[in-house]
Amino acid sequence: MKLWRKLSREDIKKKIFNALNENVNYYEENILGIPASHLDDKVFYQSAPFLGDAPFMSTLIHNPNHIGCHTIGDTEHFFRGTQKIEKEVIRICAEDILNGKPNQHDGYVASGGTEANLQAIWIYRNYFKKEFGATADEICILCSEDSHYSMNKASDVLSVDLYHISVDPDDRRISEKSIVETIAKSKTAGKKYYIIVANMMTTMFGSVDDVDLYSDLMEKHSCIYKIHIDGAFGGFFYPFAAKDHQLDFSNPNVTSVTLDAHKMAQAPYGTGLFIIRKGFIQYANTKEASYVEGEDYTLIGSRSGANAVAVWMILMTNGPYGWKEKILILLNRSEWVCNQLKSQNIQFYRNTSSNIITIKSQYVSQEIAQKYGLVPDDHQNPMWYKIVIMDHVTIEKLMPLVEELEALNFSKIN
Ligand SMILES: Cc1ncc(COP(=O)(O)O)c(C=O)c1O
Repeated sequence: MKLWRKLSREDIKKKIFNALNENVNYYEENILGIPASHLDDKVFYQSAPFLGDAPFMSTLIHNPNHIGCHTIGDTEHFFRGTQKIEKEVIRICAEDILNGKPNQHDGYVASGGTEANLQAIWIYRNYFKKEFGATADEICILCSEDSHYSMNKASDVLSVDLYHISVDPDDRRISEKSIVETIAKSKTAGKKYYIIVANMMTTMFGSVDDVDLYSDLMEKHSCIYKIHIDGAFGGFFYPFAAKDHQLDFSNPNVTSVTLDAHKMAQAPYGTGLFIIRKGFIQYANTKEASYVEGEDYTLIGSRSGANAVAVWMILMTNGPYGWKEKILILLNRSEWVCNQLKSQNIQFYRNTSSNIITIKSQYVSQEIAQKYGLVPDDHQNPMWYKIVIMDHVTIEKLMPLVEELEALNFSKIN
């Protein structure tokens, strides 16, 4: 680990308050031309004594706007202190978590996984248009049927067709046959450019796509393609749980990654991260954003700098080794649940490096699902229910569920 290290509470406080001091101070300076200010002080009390010990809350009150992308060119100088914190977050994720080379990535803290996925697809659509003269109907998105519905949103918003690849109903692996058939079908429909979104842990199953299978088949069938990794769920989990994998920047075929801090990193909502190799974010440059210093390369526009500060504080409080331990605990609990289910002959799916356990619906009653907040794949016609082992999902909380499943299924199975 090069940039990521565990810091003391004091050091974290110092760094964030120094960053805020580098930002504009609306009370003390004459800043007259921006449609921005501190939070309304009639509502959000600015001088509460605890704020001196609360860097995140203080950042919320200062209310920095991180509009634009801070890893490229000039950016709004009013908020340069906290923008540096955001740049550090992007570097830690790109280099220390996703194995990229130093200073080779652009990115920003997006509103969430949906935006980060849309940002990737937007960039590649424009890249194919600009560099290859492609028309929108020659470009398509390719992803597994277990992919998040943000791919359908991207397809709709960006007017590019979407093809779903089938997965094995039991092991959730993408099917080689389905990829080959989809390439043939899409070529017949006039597609020439492929935006592949491979999953680093799917929403419902925690399954992980074989990204090399996609790239091998793309090469074999002479397709022009770019690969984005959707690690919205898995980005802060899988790299610490899996020994070896191909879903990061060590793989030259991977160009960008989404990872959400507001899922496994327990950050406030609004902390999706979008990271891409240098040379690509330019395809999302809105030159008309001329009043923004450095223009804009993001989908979102204005966004709170407090989100970047929250992610930085979480990473630095835990440090890389603390993070690994956190993931190990969740893996142990997941293993415990799987052993219980196996001993009861209950069928489920789990990737061995994941904290999602998805049980076939015939083993779960509606009452149990409701009582324990188990989420179905489809509320109308559930085939599966998932357990997600988060920080609050302890073995003590899992035990009653396991006992109720045992009571329900004992007579069925034995
Ligand atoms: C794999 C995956 N991608 C994308 C998303 C979308 O993330 P968000 O809800 O933050 O927009 C999710 C959300 O669950 C997800 O699991």
